[in-house]
Amino acid sequence: MTTARRDTTAEPLALEGGPKAKPTPYTTGRRFGDEEMEELREALEQNTLFYAKGRKVRELCERFAAMYGKPYCTASSSGTAALHVAMGAAGVTVGDEVVTSTLTDAGTFIGILYQNAVPIFTDVDPRTYNMTADTVEARLTERTRAVIVVHLSGTPADTDPIVELCRPRGIAVIEDCAQAHLARYRDRLVGTIGDIGCFSLNDFKHISTGEGGLCITGDQALAQRMALFCDKCYPRDHWGMRTGRQCQFLAPNYRMSELCGAVGLAQVRRVEAICARRAEIGRMLTGLIAGVPGILPPEIPAGCESTHYYYMFRVDENVLGVGRNEVIRALAAEGVPASFYLKRMDQMELFQKMTIYPPRADGFVCPYDLPQYPPGRLPYAAADCPNADLVLRTAVILSMTEFWSDDDVRQTAAAIGKVASSYARRRG
Ligand SMILES: Cc1ncc(COP(=O)(O)O)c(C=O)c1O
Repeated sequence: MTTARRDTTAEPLALEGGPKAKPTPYTTGRRFGDEEMEELREALEQNTLFYAKGRKVRELCERFAAMYGKPYCTASSSGTAALHVAMGAAGVTVGDEVVTSTLTDAGTFIGILYQNAVPIFTDVDPRTYNMTADTVEARLTERTRAVIVVHLSGTPADTDPIVELCRPRGIAVIEDCAQAHLARYRDRLVGTIGDIGCFSLNDFKHISTGEGGLCITGDQALAQRMALFCDKCYPRDHWGMRTGRQCQFLAPNYRMSELCGAVGLAQVRRVEAICARRAEIGRMLTGLIAGVPGILPPEIPAGCESTHYYYMFRVDENVLGVGRNEVIRALAAEGVPASFYLKRMDQMELFQKMTIYPPRADGFVCPYDLPQYPPGRLPYAAADCPNADLVLRTAVILSMTEFWSDDDVRQTAAAIGKVASSYARRRG
């Protein structure tokens, strides 16, 4: 139903007793339905839930790889696992450095640390919230083994120049697409530009298997190591039997079960429609709030498309005369719940206090206590990432979904416009 449009910008803020700019609740919908039920029934009827014996995980991988135009895909138990698998496959090991964004989820760096390598965090572009070739270059050393490019909030990072920087130096480029399913980078999809693309299927992502992850690649040798790294380094034949040289290297058990594979198979059929709608909502919202005083919509690089895991814009405190928290409070009163990112990764306690592993009597923290990292040389200084700090201080996150109606988008934009105009007017 289309509600009558009204000019809300002159109305008093809901926080101060005025009418709400978003008076109706957001449209919701069902993410799982008959197709998931049918796939699950078939999975159970196989009489095995083991990925190497059943068909569901295999088919999920085949479909996902085909959608991305890549020959190889490995399923895992989470996005964090997928990124660890990529680290293992790329040969990241003790004392190596891996450069990645300071604005991301802990899942990006966990696999680096489990390989006893050192995450080196970069700053971001304050308009896209993503790392760039310049921010990466500033962090490269002779120990850099890999770069994990994070496509934050579904917006493609400018990845070609990062690949150009890394290839001649023999540095692997891993893409963290946990928030960026089917996001478009010029004529390609993110996840297909570097050496391995990693995805999360956790319950908050564009599509979900409850928990799950996927890695795609075009490189056969990487693909073989990815498959081994997910499964205790056990090579398998098509009956799921162990074959050949077992445990050639250390690898965890990150296997996806057939139940997750079954749900994933049904979800993959929905993913294009979900991502197209999220991209459309993002474009619409940006169009509606462009030009609102003191509001800085996210910038999507030319020729790219964001599939908006969430919608993140920034406020200009100088124009509004109030900070991000006041804006969030005012939006909540208007009927638009919003939140914000908490912290830079390098400012997390485990890095700041070096409490990375459960304490040992001798206090040794590998690899930070290796000779190449003399005390005080490495860690993670507060002044290192000023743009990320700016984003953290000024960004507002809207947890949008593909179920939002056009009216939801218009009312959300009206609420943002009303709140911003009201504060900007007071500022004079
Ligand atoms: C950018 C990013 N990387 C990695 C992950 C880790 O994924 P998972 O939660 O499936 O382990 C997430 C999940 O929130 C993420 O947003």
